[in-house]
Amino acid sequence: NNRTFTMIKPDATQKGHTGGIIDMIIKAGFTIKAMKWTKLTKEQAGAFYEVHKERPFYGELVNFMSSGPIVAAVLEKENAVADFRKLIGATDPAKADEGTIRKLFAASVGENAVHGSDSDENAAIEGSFFFSGLELF
Ligand code: GTP
Ligand code: MG
Repeated sequence: NNRTFTMIKPDATQKGHTGGIIDMIIKAGFTIKAMKWTKLTKEQAGAFYEVHKERPFYGELVNFMSSGPIVAAVLEKENAVADFRKLIGATDPAKADEGTIRKLFAASVGENAVHGSDSDENAAIEGSFFFSGLELF
């Protein structure tokens, strides 16, 4: 499929990396279909990350993701989900390849600058969490 969903996380927006990250996304060949600057409540962050609710870091993740502004976006490109995960690099920036967004902008496994959907199905679910069909261009 050809779409994925991303968030620029609060660590990156607060350090002023929003523009640099969007620039890398566009230069990698992704088209922006929808984008918004917003801030999640704890309840919204908890709902978005519900799949991780049994993981030991869930509380930390929800606190972090509601700690500051985020940028949510739907992106289009052939092979979008896999190509975007390649562009952002490993979850832990210490293990991320050179030139990836997380290698360049992330500080730790928790505060890792960006989210990228892990499947076509989740990309559609996550995109719908933030955007209606009328907001996709
Ligand atoms: P996303 O694109 O954000 O979903 O990251 P991912 O798919 O590379 O990782 P995963 O879905 O396994 O984990 C979701 C998010 O939980 C990560 O991006 C981190 O922000 C956070 N996370 C994962 N592992 C840890 C951890 O060990 N400690 C903390 N504090 N946060 C973690
Ligand atoms: Mg994930």
